[in-house]
Amino acid sequence: MSSSRLISSLYLLTLFLLLQNVIGVEPPYSSCSGNDKSTANYGSYKTSLNVLLSSLNQLAPAMEGFALGSLGQKNLDRPYGLVLCRGDVSSSDCRACVADATREILKRCPYSKQGFIAYDNCALKYTNKDFFGQIDTQNRIYLYNVRNVSNPVIFNQKTEALLSQLANKASYKARKMYAAGELDLEGRKKLYGMAQCTRDLSSGDCEKCLDGAIGELRGFSGGKEGGRVIGGSCAVRYEIYPFVKA
Ligand SMILES: *[C@@H]1O[C@H](CO)[C@@H](O)[C@H](O)[C@H]1NC(C)=O
Repeated sequence: MSSSRLISSLYLLTLFLLLQNVIGVEPPYSSCSGNDKSTANYGSYKTSLNVLLSSLNQLAPAMEGFALGSLGQKNLDRPYGLVLCRGDVSSSDCRACVADATREILKRCPYSKQGFIAYDNCALKYTNKDFFGQIDTQNRIYLYNVRNVSNPVIFNQKTEALLSQLANKASYKARKMYAAGELDLEGRKKLYGMAQCTRDLSSGDCEKCLDGAIGELRGFSGGKEGGRVIGGSCAVRYEIYPFVKA
């Protein structure tokens, strides 16, 4: 291979890796657990789950993008579910996203008692245990942009400053436990961030969840042009381009 061919192949490879991380890895991101087809009451669990998810589909767009609930008989395994649309998403986009999430999670996790799925605009989860009001430490999706910033030390400080401020705002001051904002970087660049919790959490737990996620971001996406943690109870994201509707 000539050196120019090699260089262009390397370039393509890099481009491919970039595309994969920036736009190629399409949502949704999902996980299933507790596969339990054999359990005697799986059928009734599944029936309850279908009814629960369809009612959450109705509720979430009508309730400013958040709904949770449980369904089933007391002595049987019963599903607990939650859906959350990103705070800036319109009720029609929320409805469409939750419908996709429901269809997709039932397809991807046909025999699971626990499922979690996240899109840009919404996330959905269900389990057979009551999780309301508790910080979810299990469901976590991590994403980052492979591109490095040129001055990581300052960039990381600014990212943390913005996200911590948004975490505090989402926890204590925002009606929907959602906050988005921006910060000037040098030149004419800007940093954009978002923080959100599920509204079953207390303010203190929301901040705890977000601070935990910001700490995780520091570990895996420090010095990267973008990063996000999407969890079952909270989500944070930063980018160097605007990604939420004002
Ligand atoms: C970013 O920096 C890391 C560590 O210095 C390096 O391994 C990686 O290849 C860089 N990524 C790009 C896309 O330049």
